[in-house]
Amino acid sequence: MSETKTRHQELQRFVDEWTARCRPDRVEWCDGSDAEYDRMLSLLIESGAAIRLNQEKRPNSVLVRSDPRDVARVESRTFICSASREGAGPTNNWEDPLVMRKKLNALYDGCMRGRTLYVIPFCMGPLGSPIAQIGVQLSDSPYVVANMKIMTRMGKAVLDALGDDGRFVKAVHSVGQPLEPGDAGPAWPCNPENTYITHFPEKRTILSFGSGYGGNALLGKKCFALRIASAMARDEGWLAEHMLILGVEGPDGKKTYVTAAFPSACGKTNFAMLIPPKEMTGWKVTCVGDDIAWLKPDAEGNLRAINPEAGFFGVAPGTSMETNPNAMISCSRDSIFTNVALTDDGDVWWEGMTKEPPKHLVDWTGKDWTPDCGRNAAHPNARFTAPARNCPVIDPEWESPAGVPIRAIIFGGRRMNDVPLVYQAFNWSHGVYIGATMGSEQTAAAEGQVGALRRDPMAMLPFCGYNMGDYFRHWLSMAKRVKEPPRIFHVNWFRKKDGKFMWPGYSQNMRVLRWVVERSRGQAIGVESPLGWIPHYHDIDWRGLDFSEAQWDELMGYARDRVKKQTLSHEELFLELSEALPKTMIFERELLISRL
Ligand code: OXD
Ligand code: MN
Repeated sequence: MSETKTRHQELQRFVDEWTARCRPDRVEWCDGSDAEYDRMLSLLIESGAAIRLNQEKRPNSVLVRSDPRDVARVESRTFICSASREGAGPTNNWEDPLVMRKKLNALYDGCMRGRTLYVIPFCMGPLGSPIAQIGVQLSDSPYVVANMKIMTRMGKAVLDALGDDGRFVKAVHSVGQPLEPGDAGPAWPCNPENTYITHFPEKRTILSFGSGYGGNALLGKKCFALRIASAMARDEGWLAEHMLILGVEGPDGKKTYVTAAFPSACGKTNFAMLIPPKEMTGWKVTCVGDDIAWLKPDAEGNLRAINPEAGFFGVAPGTSMETNPNAMISCSRDSIFTNVALTDDGDVWWEGMTKEPPKHLVDWTGKDWTPDCGRNAAHPNARFTAPARNCPVIDPEWESPAGVPIRAIIFGGRRMNDVPLVYQAFNWSHGVYIGATMGSEQTAAAEGQVGALRRDPMAMLPFCGYNMGDYFRHWLSMAKRVKEPPRIFHVNWFRKKDGKFMWPGYSQNMRVLRWVVERSRGQAIGVESPLGWIPHYHDIDWRGLDFSEAQWDELMGYARDRVKKQTLSHEELFLELSEALPKTMIFERELLISRL
């Protein structure tokens, strides 16, 4: 039995039950202190999993190398174990909750022998916020404890807030590799053959086994803040979304908050920290969050959002002082790097960080690396875990318990042809249809046919904790819960001509963002088109960019017959969801086809 650390009986029972099942050598309740964080890093260093980086170049930071078999989220092993198969819907893996529990109970039996079970109380969102939610994760991984300290509000203050009877989400995690007496085990323990990332939405419970990495192990992030929270949000009338949140301030000093959902590898973190072109004087972007947004109507009917996280778990490769200086500064100290390369002077490096790679590195697997060796120095999914407070453009309201009022929602994908740079939905249900049918083309980096379109509704395909058809219905119903629904937009930064991008992207996306913000304030012109409202060339701020009207017309143009064909192909997704699909989605599709 664990030491009693709480008067919360349900929590104590939860800890006792899992301690008895996992049989750790010790149980430790995390207090969230800096001393505890340092102790976790020391444990990782002693075990050989981590290296302390050069204190001058990268203060208070470590590099961790994972097992090469444990480097990313495993969607094939991710399950939504709702009471019924329909509850999970056709886009999720489903297993009967009783069958899955039986299988997992056997795996968890004695799985923490020789290890410490850490009790990690954490809050997703600012403590005391009416939008925030509390969770308690049990884990046998010091790497998880250290990352949870950066990514969430974690420790004693959360237990205090939970009190004797507060509600919490239960999360259990084990790396799935017990230790025999006298054996220290591998530096990065894991159990890839038996990895399961499972969610029990009705029980608000997450059970994760066998992986120590990222979204599989930091259960506050994808498992709670998206999969479980989306089910809570459906039941309670709010939204848990895979969205960044940013603030835009114009020359008049007015601030407008916007959220945006893009599938992975579409530059969400870059957009969240965008630096406007210097010629657009008076315009400024601040970051509230880069990955997840919880949106809830307040008592007056305003839709307000919080970032449930407290840090960035960003993809390192491709991040540089050119592409995202604010992310580079965020991880310039106090950070955990996972699977990046080590420089000879004890700093980190990854592909894309500098134009010229260093002459020698130790790669993410611990091997010597030179530019001509033919291997990547960092794993393509290498990460930095950095505190949000380190971000130079963090929004002053990012920890506001009330959240920030959302005026616009942007959906986007990576589309080579026929999807204009920007357009605005005619109304909320049209916007929901745009989000529901969004997709992205596969890049050469991923398996599958290059250029093949993967439908990823609201960028939530791997993260929706219930039936996608019901999810669309819930989105549609949100219009009735708010006074003035946010305006909805679609963007595409990735259009190509002759193999070259037609739009410069990055900072220049501010020109689109300005139109989005002014449209949602009722200050900019939009012209009706079959797809939605669009800006004319002269409605865009071109100061400092040489971009002709002819280029613009090409970037905004599309072949109606091809778009019509694409629209007809939405049928595939709709057929898959047929039983739960709201009729409104079909009507919106018919309207679009008739406009085309
Ligand atoms: C992430 C993801 O890590 O979306 O944020 O996969
Ligand atoms: Mn994400």
